[in-house]
Amino acid sequence: MVAGNWKMNTTPTEGKALVKAVMDKVPNPSTKVVFGVPAIQLMEIQELVKGHPNYAVAAQNMHQEESGAYTGELSAAMLVDAGIEYVILGHSERRDYAGEDDDLINLKINQALKHGLKPIYCCGEKLDIRQAGNQEVVVGRQIEQALSSLEADQLSQVVIAYEPVWAIGTGVTASNEQAQQMHANIRRMITNQFGSEVANNLTILYGGSVKPNNAAELFAEPDVDGGLVGGASLDADSFAAIINAVR
Ligand code: G3P
Repeated sequence: MVAGNWKMNTTPTEGKALVKAVMDKVPNPSTKVVFGVPAIQLMEIQELVKGHPNYAVAAQNMHQEESGAYTGELSAAMLVDAGIEYVILGHSERRDYAGEDDDLINLKINQALKHGLKPIYCCGEKLDIRQAGNQEVVVGRQIEQALSSLEADQLSQVVIAYEPVWAIGTGVTASNEQAQQMHANIRRMITNQFGSEVANNLTILYGGSVKPNNAAELFAEPDVDGGLVGGASLDADSFAAIINAVR
């Protein structure tokens, strides 16, 4: 899988042009390609990908409640009614500026699954944690708090994205070894709690400065199942090259 997280970038006009350009460059991707677009563009981009087996759309967030007095928020039911298949939850930027923690993200994951949405759950450590060598403890705790209450069949609908915060938007990509080590650790945790069948079928994406010149070697790691791409997803040539890097 290769997912693009556009964050707060592209106008609706630019977004449509970007999706059309990517789909023209890669008409039949060998892997699932997901466009994580701003809320204002969800329905229009969904119209562009509708019916294509390997293109889909993700919302970048979703509220945990069914409906109600939550000005500015989107509900799971709204996303499903719009034909949206995925929702990115727990991104480090929302943890930072929206104060989201894994207990809240767990509520959002459960609400998404209740409506048949597929969560792309983001986890990852900050630089000070990595420098102290505590990354596996911190990411392990994130996974535990966000996912441990799920049943195995629910978890099979979840995509996990490991995004070391120190690699997001910095141009400093985790090394292949660092990515593989954390992905293997995450898969081992899932195996221990949910069994090997669920763990082996789980998609674990790497995110954090994925670019055309590093995607192929990252994706070649045994436990790296693709990427969650920020900046490079905003350029059709770059995103197409990353999609084609999946083997
Ligand atoms: O969600 C993906 C994003 O956080 C990665 O951003 O620009 O480092 O690819 P970037």
